[in-house]
Amino acid sequence: MERPARLYGLWALLLCAGAGVAAPAETQPPVTNLSVSVENLCTVIWTWNPPEGASPNCSLRYFSHFGNKQDKKIAPETHRSEEVPLNERICLQVGSQCSTNESEQPSILVEKCISPPEGDPESAVTELQCVWHNLSYMTCTWLPGRNTSPDTNYTLYYWHSSLGKILQCENIHREGQHIGCSFVLSKVKDSSFEQQSVQIMVKDNAGKIRPSFNIVPLTSHVKPDPPHIKNLSFHNGDLYVQWKNPQNFYSRCLSYQVEVNNSQAETHDIFSVEETKCQNSELEGNLEGTICFMVPGVLPGTLNTVRIRVKTNKLCYEDDKLWSNWSQAMSIGQRANPTFYITTLLIIPVIVAAAIIVLLLYLKRLKIIIFPPIPDPGKIFKEMFGDQNDDTLRWKKYDICEKQTKEETDSVVLIENLKRASQ
Ligand SMILES: *[C@@H]1O[C@H](CO)[C@@H](O)[C@H](O)[C@H]1NC(C)=O
Ligand SMILES: *[C@@H]1O[C@H](CO)[C@@H](O)[C@H](O)[C@H]1NC(C)=O
Ligand SMILES: *[C@@H]1O[C@H](CO)[C@@H](O)[C@H](O)[C@H]1NC(C)=O
Ligand SMILES: *[C@@H]1O[C@H](CO)[C@@H](O)[C@H](O)[C@H]1NC(C)=O
Ligand SMILES: *[C@@H]1O[C@H](CO)[C@@H](O)[C@H](O)[C@H]1NC(C)=O
Ligand SMILES: *[C@@H]1O[C@H](CO)[C@@H](O)[C@H](O)[C@H]1NC(C)=O
Ligand SMILES: *[C@@H]1O[C@H](CO)[C@@H](O)[C@H](O)[C@H]1NC(C)=O
Ligand SMILES: *[C@@H]1O[C@H](CO)[C@@H](O)[C@H](O)[C@H]1NC(C)=O
Repeated sequence: MERPARLYGLWALLLCAGAGVAAPAETQPPVTNLSVSVENLCTVIWTWNPPEGASPNCSLRYFSHFGNKQDKKIAPETHRSEEVPLNERICLQVGSQCSTNESEQPSILVEKCISPPEGDPESAVTELQCVWHNLSYMTCTWLPGRNTSPDTNYTLYYWHSSLGKILQCENIHREGQHIGCSFVLSKVKDSSFEQQSVQIMVKDNAGKIRPSFNIVPLTSHVKPDPPHIKNLSFHNGDLYVQWKNPQNFYSRCLSYQVEVNNSQAETHDIFSVEETKCQNSELEGNLEGTICFMVPGVLPGTLNTVRIRVKTNKLCYEDDKLWSNWSQAMSIGQRANPTFYITTLLIIPVIVAAAIIVLLLYLKRLKIIIFPPIPDPGKIFKEMFGDQNDDTLRWKKYDICEKQTKEETDSVVLIENLKRASQ
């Protein structure tokens, strides 16, 4: 089964070669003087001249593609340019033909390549990435190459059409292992701007490392600023969230996430917002230029904390991966205040202790009133006679005194009785 197919293939090849020799008019001669140059940081331009001895009836078109049949193009121009990160060798092949018909056999293809700048590939920086923040400044970060000294001084150059020239990024900074640099790059109203890219090159001052390149399309790697929550409110048991989008972005170009944390149920819900219209038309006109979203199934009586973040979507941008930071959180509802708990926890024991002390003092007073203290005669006499050492003497004296009074009382009683008897 295989053999006839192979034979046929061989036969076709022979036929083609034969045709090439027999009728050279069918395919055109190859293009001449193909050359390559670089503009800006990595705009690579190939130019060539028309073939010599082309058929006079032929309206020349040029077929071109990169190394492995990528980005085929058939056009009448004698040049082709491409933004190419020059980290790898890249080659363009060009041939001529007489129509834009893809099935027409082009001439012999001529190839011209451009190689990366000289230097040890291991010395080039790695993971060169850029993010366009808020459509107002770009931050690029990278890691040092393997074969580099730690005191390498890096420089970043950037270019895009609206700048008109190559600029150097001024404030190189380090974030842990990463090295980064930020530069101002604002959104330009010109719509063609969005089809363009920023060209980036990182090298070192001393020229010891191989330069690295990156091309950042302005329709991707966009990180918006976080939105601002303006109001939370409950209407008929539904939670309505209103927020303002970051400047510079159309609402339809953004996707949203609303996070709702309920402190009592300890739930953590994230809602992806597709439709940013609230049914409650009254809310719409309430805050000018805000986006509204109704969060379903939120418990009104408890504390709910809401945050929002945004990212670009595929309607206006090429990628939709970079979320903004979360907005500031806003809460609605009540929770028993933790400081209130702390104060009550501290104050209650103090009050109880104070009450007990007051009660004890009061009880002591009460005891004095109810049970007056029994006088201690010893004490009294001690005070009367001063500090005498001879206690026995004192007690004898006391005895005598007591006896005398007793005798006197007795005599009085006797006299009284005598008086009564005489009457
Ligand atoms: C190719 O370039 C050389 C030198 O620049 C020039 O003399 C020659 O005419 C060019 N060939 C064509 C076909 O234009
Ligand atoms: C070019 O076209 C004319 C008329 O269209 C024809 O007479 C002539 O033979 C053609 N020449 C070649 C070389 O094919
Ligand atoms: C392209 O050429 C093929 C054969 O050479 C032909 O069948 C086809 O119709 C042509 N297409 C156009 C758009 O001319
Ligand atoms: C975001 O861009 C707007 C408009 O260019 C600007 O006013 C605002 O300050 C920017 N925000 C930040 C955080 O740079
Ligand atoms: C980087 O710059 C510092 C200060 O300008 C200098 O001391 C150091 O030698 C430089 N490093 C290299 C590798 O040139
Ligand atoms: C986003 O959060 C990071 C980390 O907290 C912070 O460094 C950065 O400044 C924030 N960006 C904006 C635009 O607020
Ligand atoms: C939030 O919205 C509610 C209901 O529309 C309104 O009563 C309240 O005043 C608004 N609060 C703020 C801060 O705008
Ligand atoms: C909401 O809960 C999640 C998960 O517990 C937590 O990561 C997040 O920080 C909370 N949000 C706020 C605003 O506290």
